[in-house]
Amino acid sequence: MNNNVTLHSLQDCKRRGEKFACLTAYDALFARLCNEAGVEVLLVGDSLGMVLQGHDSTLPVTMEDMVYHMQCVKRGNQHAMLMADLPFMSYASAPQTLDNAARLMRAGAHIVKLEGGAWIAETTALLTERGIPVCAHMGLTPQSINRLGGFRVQGRDPEAANTIIEEAKLLERAGANMLLLECIPASLARTVTVSVGIPVIGIGAGVDVDGQIMVLHDALGISPITPRFVKNFLATSEDGIQGALAGFVAAVKSRRFPGDEHTYY
Ligand code: KIV
Repeated sequence: MNNNVTLHSLQDCKRRGEKFACLTAYDALFARLCNEAGVEVLLVGDSLGMVLQGHDSTLPVTMEDMVYHMQCVKRGNQHAMLMADLPFMSYASAPQTLDNAARLMRAGAHIVKLEGGAWIAETTALLTERGIPVCAHMGLTPQSINRLGGFRVQGRDPEAANTIIEEAKLLERAGANMLLLECIPASLARTVTVSVGIPVIGIGAGVDVDGQIMVLHDALGISPITPRFVKNFLATSEDGIQGALAGFVAAVKSRRFPGDEHTYY
């Protein structure tokens, strides 16, 4: 893969029905290895609070943490689209949102991700109207873990499912450029994916979304917690870490991942 991945190229993937692969990355070395493996989108996720810093949630992650890791990933990146999380409470007011999103873009992000449903529609419009692309993260939103009552599958009853579908459409109308669906039943993720024109990334959302994302350390089987949607690609790799990353990309593109055993129904 030699061309830069852009919103347009991901949009083309969706149109052609070609799956794309995304992983989290937090440093320059893994950003480079992921590029070599053909990963299209690298997310500097606030999961770094749990994966790297040892916290039990993403809430303690600061803007300084995000900017630092974004700068590291940018140095190792060549072609991938770089997405950065706006961390907990960094988009609570309009001036704060603009300021913090600008810091991430200056550090190297091509798109920012924020968690929420209808309540982030105004924020989405605020950012996109000013030239900052937005990925809206829906379903299980880890920054709201205390309100949700734990890391659990969302959208299981018809009313909750309908809310997710309607909010996804609302966010697209507000200007969102991508959606990320976390931990929802596969049939709901499929409905959302065909109901919007923008690319939809899934984690624990079944095989019928446009792109798959995993936390890097989960894909390498070195995370202490392994939810249902996680697969260890290092376990079957014949070429160490590079083989695992390439295996993830190949499995996503051929729709072999996620399988039934990684999916919520
Ligand atoms: O922060 C993160 O790594 C994420 C992924 C779980 C999608 O949001």
